[in-house]
Amino acid sequence: MIELYDPAVYERGVPYEDLGWLRENSPVHWHRDPQGPGFWAVTRHADVVHVSRHPELFSSYEGLAMIGEYPEPDKELQRLLILNQDPPEHSRRRSLVNKGFTPRMISKLEQHIREVCDQLLDRCEGEGDFVTQVAAPLPLQVICELLGAPVADRDLLFDLSNRLIGWDDPEFQTTYEDGQHAGGELMAYGNALAAERMREPRDDLITRLIRPGPDGAMLSPDDVGMFTILLVVAGNETTRNAASNGMQAFFDHPDQWRRLLDDRSLLEPAVEELVRWATPVMQFRRTATADTTIGDQPIRKGDKVVVFYNAANRDPAVFPDPDVFDIGRDPNPHVGFGGGGPHFCLGAHLARMELRVLFETIARRFPDIAPKGEARRLRSNFINGIKEMPVAFRPPQ
Ligand code: HEM
Repeated sequence: MIELYDPAVYERGVPYEDLGWLRENSPVHWHRDPQGPGFWAVTRHADVVHVSRHPELFSSYEGLAMIGEYPEPDKELQRLLILNQDPPEHSRRRSLVNKGFTPRMISKLEQHIREVCDQLLDRCEGEGDFVTQVAAPLPLQVICELLGAPVADRDLLFDLSNRLIGWDDPEFQTTYEDGQHAGGELMAYGNALAAERMREPRDDLITRLIRPGPDGAMLSPDDVGMFTILLVVAGNETTRNAASNGMQAFFDHPDQWRRLLDDRSLLEPAVEELVRWATPVMQFRRTATADTTIGDQPIRKGDKVVVFYNAANRDPAVFPDPDVFDIGRDPNPHVGFGGGGPHFCLGAHLARMELRVLFETIARRFPDIAPKGEARRLRSNFINGIKEMPVAFRPPQ
């Protein structure tokens, strides 16, 4: 049986066959984990949705985001992230940070995203690397704009984000401790930005976050610091890999790229399909708060439960021909942004907009873009990532 916790497994690509076998034969499967207590691997769409929508039974507070156990002192810090909180605490903080992600705030970014996409592609000529030239800088620049972080800090934020999330991959030459250190630096960065905005408010996200809500509740500087970590990681690695895997999906299915070139009204369903197809966040873990069941499987209080979004997104009970990449797929109730519970991705609208504008710009500027070698994948059991993707940027003839 495949070792689902092992980051090396994913370097070869998502193990869809094994996940499919589990979904068919053992949809709630007990899996050992040498770094931790073991976990139930949940692979059916309906079960992933069930776990996501019942935080009272499946808590985020104990589990943190990864398979495995982490040193105790980190837990307290991690619990400041909304991702690791349960209602009602989570609902209170989430309503405060929601202020920065209203449709109005996000739509204000569209013009900026267009400009960034054009500027990035202006610098692409001949052969290059899609990840470092396009997919990685786009979300990073958008997050910097959203935070109101100075342009000069971009490289620093990029490096910290890589170190924080990439510690499973030896190529980043980092360790778990270094990753934690990078997290500390990011937190301090967010704290400092918050202090600056308290002195000099601006029309940006951080200024909005530090204003009291209607009931007088407000975020502390530590909350803002932790939220900065979450945004930099959640906003960068995910969108970057949706873009790279999306480009790869188009290379692997040139008929679908042609279809998009011929009909731009397919951009929105195409973005949904590539988030389903690529599923950048592969799993999250919860902890059962009581004896319960998932499907027919009894679960004991305290058991770890891991939802595998990529398995659920290929569930034939929900998606006809799930292994077909179809940019016109409708309906497409994928769980790439989560299973619809209280933690549903805060940045989903923003990510959708970034991906739509990016592929629209590529289609206009480089309709004949083509692969120039094998993409190299990230060694991670959490992010379905591509590190390097050689391409030829070809303008229209
Ligand atoms: C949560 C995926 C982009 C911010 C999540 C979750 C997933 C996810 C699976 C957990 C959902 C759950 O537990 O039910 C993605 C994907 C993205 C993306 C696939 C890109 C294609 C972004 C962006 C931002 C963002 C651009 C912000 C700028 C967050 C935050 C949370 C979150 C703050 C935690 C929400 C909470 O705990 O209440 N995302 N995300 N994400 N995402 Fe995203």
